Amino acid sequence: MNLNTGGILFVIALMAATILVVGDSFSLGEDYINDLTMLGALAVIAITVFVSLKYINQIKNDTATGELSDENWDGIGEYKNEIPSGWGIMYIITIVWMMWYWTIGYPTNAFSQIGQWNEEVLEYNAKFEEKWKNPDAATLEAMGQSLFLVQCSPCHGVDAEGIGGKAQNLVTWGKEDSIVNTILNGASGMGLAGGDMPPMAQLTPAQAKAVAAYVVEEFTPAATKYPNLVAEGKELYNGMGTCSGCHGVDGNGVAGTFPALTDLTTAVLANNGKKASIGIMPSFSGRLNETQMKALNSYIYTLGE
Ligand code: HEC
Ligand code: HEC
Repeated sequence: MNLNTGGILFVIALMAATILVVGDSFSLGEDYINDLTMLGALAVIAITVFVSLKYINQIKNDTATGELSDENWDGIGEYKNEIPSGWGIMYIITIVWMMWYWTIGYPTNAFSQIGQWNEEVLEYNAKFEEKWKNPDAATLEAMGQSLFLVQCSPCHGVDAEGIGGKAQNLVTWGKEDSIVNTILNGASGMGLAGGDMPPMAQLTPAQAKAVAAYVVEEFTPAATKYPNLVAEGKELYNGMGTCSGCHGVDGNGVAGTFPALTDLTTAVLANNGKKASIGIMPSFSGRLNETQMKALNSYIYTLGE
């Protein structure tokens, strides 16, 4: 059988098989996308077979033309061929297209799923902020509790006690005893511009307790257990070189340098994490927003009450 006749029969067979398998989507006039796809499939079959035929014929019948290059390997020579001009033009067009694509095309101008995601997140954040503009104390606590169960309990435990020392015990942290401990022993691990907090060696443990009472009463959402110590604590807090020099008279600290005692949880969460003997507390900056951190701060001070 002649090669061309075989090719035509092959095209007919492939087209028939195609129509047999997916012919029901070829429904003229109903859905032009399906129609175009079918026509495209048939065209691809015809073109593929006839182009293959052309080259098979060429391999069978062509004789060599042109000039042999000087090199030959074990008698196998090579013809000197010009770059086909179509190929050369395509090559240059591809380079131009690539430059266009990198600079003007896709990255800066086109739709991207990541861009759309970011936009939707921003929109959602705005909604969140609008809804919880001025939450009252009870709302903050409830929000803090739900956030805590999702974000913090894997390390700190559902009871916030730190799973036997795996993470800080937040039932006691931030309360008087923990602050006394900080005052007498200092604090480190946040890597702030202010450096570590040195132990306040000038204070006796009794004075430290008074300062802690003042800090809790004045700066946290909780009330102190030692209201009779608050006045003495206030004086000590603001005394020369004690606390106010770094944490401020108002307890607001200096962002990135000295943590705010008025919102210590946010100071910890928004920092690049906190290194301690029992491990590293990861940063929540960018993962929780300001309101959510405030909510956690409120919640933590209700623990152990
Ligand atoms: C991957 C585990 C992990 C997660 C999740 C985690 N923490 Fe911690 N956290 C730690 C570790 C470990 C410490 C101990 C650091 C230390 O001893 O001061 C710590 C310490 C703390 C401290 C005390 C920091 C200080 O100055 O001593 C606070 C407050 C705290 N976490 C709050 C939270 C809150 C709120 C969340 C949830 C938003 C949270 N943590 C999520 C591991 C974690
Ligand atoms: C020299 C500046 C300086 C002085 C003075 C100072 N602090 Fe601090 N304080 C810091 C810094 C810095 C940190 C954060 C250290 C870290 O965690 O890396 C800190 C952390 C704290 C913390 C949080 C500890 C924790 O577990 O996360 C408390 C509470 C605190 N200070 C209370 C006080 C009190 C009360 C006084 C006064 C008796 C005081 N500080 C004096 C610089 C100071």
